[in-house]
Amino acid sequence: MPVLLKEVIDGLNINPSGIYVDCTFGGGGHSRKILENLSIDGKLIVFDQDADAKQNVPHDDRIIFVPHNFRHLQRFLRFHHVKKVNGILADLGVSSHQFNAAERGFSTRFDAKLDMRMNQTDEKTAVDVIRNYPEERLHKIFEQYGEVTNSKTLAKRIVAQRNIQSIVTINEFKNAIYPVVKGNPEKYFAQVFQALRIEVNDELNVLKEMLEQSAAVLETGGRIAVITFHSLEDRLVKIFFKNGNFENEQVHDLYGNISKNELKVITKKPIVPSAEELKINPRSRSSKLRIAEKISVE
Ligand SMILES: C[S@@+](CC[C@H](N)C(=O)[O-])C[C@H]1O[C@@H](n2cnc3c(N)ncnc32)[C@H](O)[C@@H]1O
Repeated sequence: MPVLLKEVIDGLNINPSGIYVDCTFGGGGHSRKILENLSIDGKLIVFDQDADAKQNVPHDDRIIFVPHNFRHLQRFLRFHHVKKVNGILADLGVSSHQFNAAERGFSTRFDAKLDMRMNQTDEKTAVDVIRNYPEERLHKIFEQYGEVTNSKTLAKRIVAQRNIQSIVTINEFKNAIYPVVKGNPEKYFAQVFQALRIEVNDELNVLKEMLEQSAAVLETGGRIAVITFHSLEDRLVKIFFKNGNFENEQVHDLYGNISKNELKVITKKPIVPSAEELKINPRSRSSKLRIAEKISVE
């Protein structure tokens, strides 16, 4: 069930004969609605780094599936001879399909290998992070990506335990860190798993790379809509839409001129799900939608 569907479609302000990009195809819920709003002249290019998503691609001549990371947005648009697009959507994070497939290792509910790769051909899994990262790096990851309150203690515990026991599966990992769990274990594990997932998939860097390319590939008047699920991502999107960089302030060039931001913020405050949506779709909890429009800065 796609999150904030109506809000995304309204926000993209779809031109029926335009070219659109869905960076996060997943189950294809948003894409199907975009297609409904396109005429036979329209085009939709969809990215998903998870090969499993391909099976959801509808038979429709207007759609092109790109089985790659959206950090290569501009490169693959060029490959498909597309210079400019009229709209871009990114609905970040993992899909329900990925989350509910035990063997993918994303969910604390199951026991399986600690995998967490969205792209199953990537080398690094969560096991590698747990097994090989130095203590200080683990500390920072849990602190910054999971906001785990005792991240230092957690990192120390992992490093001590990994030398004396196997930590390959979700249950082995949960048992290994159980003595340092603070507060509600379910919430604690969720924060720890979120941090690992962000690290394994390099989620903040890929988002930054995609945002940086978005203004260059959008037509003037074209829009970008991004749905985030945690504050780290939302902050990046908010700052980038506002300033055109990740500095949280206007950047000056060598001559003291303010660098021009080619994006105009459409949503001063993020759009969040209605009470109705929250009731029928728990996955929409904590989602935030921000939209910006490419403007001419000449
Ligand atoms: C939240 S789901 C998208 C759901 C989709 N909007 C729908 O309506 O079904 C996110 C999807 O994006 C993919 N994804 C996440 N980050 C990606 C990235 N950096 N590059 C390509 N695909 C990515 C995931 O594999 C997952 O299938």
